[in-house]
Amino acid sequence: MISRMSVDGGRQHCPRFENHRVVVTGGARGIGASIVRAFANEGANIAIVDLLIDEARPLATDVGGHAVECDLSDPADTVKGMNAAVSALGGIDVLVNNAGVFKITPLLDISAEEWDWVFSINTRAMLLTTQVSARAMIDQGTGGKIVNTASMGGKVGAANQAHYAASKAAVISLTQVSAAELGVYGINVNSICPGYVLTEMGAATRTPEMVAEWSAMSPLGRLADPADVASMALFLASDDADYCTGQAMNVTGGMISH
Ligand SMILES: NC(=O)c1ccc[n+]([C@@H]2O[C@H](COP(=O)([O-])OP(=O)(O)OC[C@H]3O[C@@H](n4cnc5c(N)ncnc54)[C@H](O)[C@@H]3O)[C@@H](O)[C@H]2O)c1
Repeated sequence: MISRMSVDGGRQHCPRFENHRVVVTGGARGIGASIVRAFANEGANIAIVDLLIDEARPLATDVGGHAVECDLSDPADTVKGMNAAVSALGGIDVLVNNAGVFKITPLLDISAEEWDWVFSINTRAMLLTTQVSARAMIDQGTGGKIVNTASMGGKVGAANQAHYAASKAAVISLTQVSAAELGVYGINVNSICPGYVLTEMGAATRTPEMVAEWSAMSPLGRLADPADVASMALFLASDDADYCTGQAMNVTGGMISH
C-alpha cells in the first residue's frame, strides 16, 4: 500500500482525513468542488450529493469517491440522497453542508414561491441532512463534525437579497442549535461565512466594476478563492477544531469582524 505521508524540509505530514468518510453537498462545482479536492488530498473517502450529476460524477471518479444525484429542494429526495451517500461510504465522519442557491430580487418583488425555494435548499435541506448524518454518527458512537456554509450575507444583509440573507442567518442559528443539542454525542457543528467568491453563483449579474468595488472592501485587496473557504472547512472538520462548536467563522478577507 502506498503511504500518503510526505516529508517536507525534514517534517513529516500525515494526511488529516485518512479513512474519514466525508459527505459534501453541492460538491459538483465551485466552492464545493474545492472542498472535495482538499479533503481528497488529505486522504478522505468522499461522497458528493448534488443535482448536477454530470459534473459530480467525473469529479467523484477523479478523487476515487461517490456521486449521488439528489434534489435538495425536495425533502424526500434529500433524505434518500443522504442515506445513499452514507451507505456508499459505510458510515459518516464529516458532513459539509455546502449546497446553496442565490437570487437577486428586490424585497417588494419576492414571491412566496421564490422565498420558499431559496429556503428549501439553503436551510431546510440542511436540517434534513444534519438529521440523517447525526443519527448515523450517534449510532456509530464515533462523534463527528458538521460544517455548514452560511454567508457574510447572513450577518450583514444586503439590498435585493432578503431571502438569501435571511436563509443564511437561519443557517447560523441552526448551527448554534445543532451544536447545543449534538455536543453531548461528540458532534461539533460550525458554520462558515464566506465573503465574495468568484464562482458560478451570481456570475450572471456580476460586472468587473462590482468585483473592483468588492475587492477594495477587503484590507487584503482581493476576493476569496474557493480554496480559502475549503481551508476553513478542513480546519473545522479536523481534530484541531475539537473545542470549537456553534461558531460562525468569517472567511471575508477582513470585510467584517463580527
Ligand atoms: N460564491 C460566493 O460569493 C458565496 C459567498 C458566500 C457564501 N456562499 C455559499 O457557498 C456555497 C457554495 O456556493 P458556490 O459559490 O460554490 O455556488 P455554485 O452555484 O457554484 O455551487 C452550488 C452547488 O450547489 C448545488 N445545488 C444547488 N441547488 C441544488 C439542489 N436543489 N440540489 C442539490 N444540489 C444543489 C449546485 O448544483 C452546485 O454544485 C453556497 O451555500 C453559497 O450560498 C457563496
